[in-house]
Amino acid sequence: MRAIPSVLGEDQAAFLVRQRVARLATSDGMGKPHAVPVCFASARASIFIALDEKPKDVPVSRLKRVRNILENPDVALIADRYAEDWNLLAFVMVRGRAELLDPGTEEHAAAVRLLRGKYHQYEAMRIEENPVIVIRPERAVSWGALDEPESSGSRVLDTIHGRRSVRSYLQKGVPEDVVERVLEAARWAPSPHGRQPWRFAVLTKEATKERLAHAMGEEWRANLEMDGQSVEVVEKRLEGSRRRLLDAPVLVLICLYLEDLDAYPDAERQRGETTMAIQSLGAAAQNVLLTAYDSGLDAGWMCAPLFCPERVVEALGLDPSLVPHALLTLGYADGDPPKRRSRRPLDELVVYRD
Ligand SMILES: Cc1cc2nc3c(=O)[nH]c(=O)nc-3n(C[C@H](O)[C@H](O)[C@H](O)COP(=O)(O)O)c2cc1C
Repeated sequence: MRAIPSVLGEDQAAFLVRQRVARLATSDGMGKPHAVPVCFASARASIFIALDEKPKDVPVSRLKRVRNILENPDVALIADRYAEDWNLLAFVMVRGRAELLDPGTEEHAAAVRLLRGKYHQYEAMRIEENPVIVIRPERAVSWGALDEPESSGSRVLDTIHGRRSVRSYLQKGVPEDVVERVLEAARWAPSPHGRQPWRFAVLTKEATKERLAHAMGEEWRANLEMDGQSVEVVEKRLEGSRRRLLDAPVLVLICLYLEDLDAYPDAERQRGETTMAIQSLGAAAQNVLLTAYDSGLDAGWMCAPLFCPERVVEALGLDPSLVPHALLTLGYADGDPPKRRSRRPLDELVVYRD
C-alpha cells in the first residue's frame, strides 16, 4: 500500500513524510484566507493535524482554522525546504478537503498514535481529548529538489530524535551513493581493538530477497508451530514478514566476523571478546540507522537472521565464517509508522553515584 495513493507521487509522499512542519491554509465562508504553521502526520490517504492545548481561554473549537474548516472545508497544506544553497529548495503543496475527527473514533485514535509517534512532545499533551483535523488530499503539486537529504549539519540529537523504525516502504529506489554513505558510517563504528568484527551483505535483487525470505520463513514456521500457533496465524505472520523483506528496496545484513579477534585460552575471556564484538555490531547498526535517516531514508531492524544463521549463510552463499545477526531494511517510508514510540524518562534509567 502507498502513502496517499491516488494523489501524491512517490517523491512527493517521501518528501512530505520527512517534514516536521507545514503551513495549513484555510479560508472562511467569505473566502478570507488564513494560514498557520502546523505539525502533521501522514498516512495513506490522509494528513492529520492535532489541536493541542494552548495557553488560552479559547476552546479549540473557536480556533480560526477550525471555524474556517467548518465554514469551508477546502484547504491547502504546504511543506517546504529553504536553504541558502538554492539548489536545495523544494516544496509540496496538497489541496484537499478537511474535516474534524472526534475523539472516540478508531481513526481519531490512529491519528493520535501517528502524531505521538512522530512528535515525542505530544506524549505529554492531552491531544486525545481534542478533535484532530484530517485532510483528504485531492491534488498535489511540487517543485524543486525533493530528493535531497533533509539535513546537512543538523545536530546529532535531532537525528537521534527523528529516527524511527519503519516497516513499510514506498516502491522508490534508493540511489547507490546513499547506500554507500550509510555503509561508510557503519565502517566507522567503534570496535574492540579496532578490529571491525562485522561484515555487511547488501541485497537489492528480488530473487535474492526471496531466497532469504524463504530460508528464514522455513525456520520461523517450525518455531511458530512448535509454539502451538494455529495454521492461519502462522501463514499470516510469515506472509507479513516475507512482504516486509520483498517490499524494502534495500536490505543490509550485518554479520559478525570473529576471525580477527584475540584468542584466549580460557572460555570466560573468549566470551567477553565475543560480547564486545556483538556490542560493536550494535554500534555499526546504529550508525546505519542514523545515517540513513540523516540522508533522507528510513530504516527498520529485523532480528530474524539471528535465529537461523546457517540457513541465511547457505541461502545467500556467504562465507561460512560470517554469522548473520541483524537485518536492516532501508527505503523511503510509506507514511509515518503507526507504532507508538515512547521512552522511559531519564530518571528511570540513570543513577548518579558521586
Ligand atoms: C536488537 C534489536 C532487534 C530488533 N528486532 C526487530 C524485529 O525483529 N522486528 C521489528 O519489527 N523490529 C525490531 N526491532 C526494532 C524495535 O522494535 C524498535 O527499535 C523499538 O520498538 C523502538 O522503536 P523505534 O526504533 O521506532 O524508536 C529491533 C531492535 C533491536 C535493537
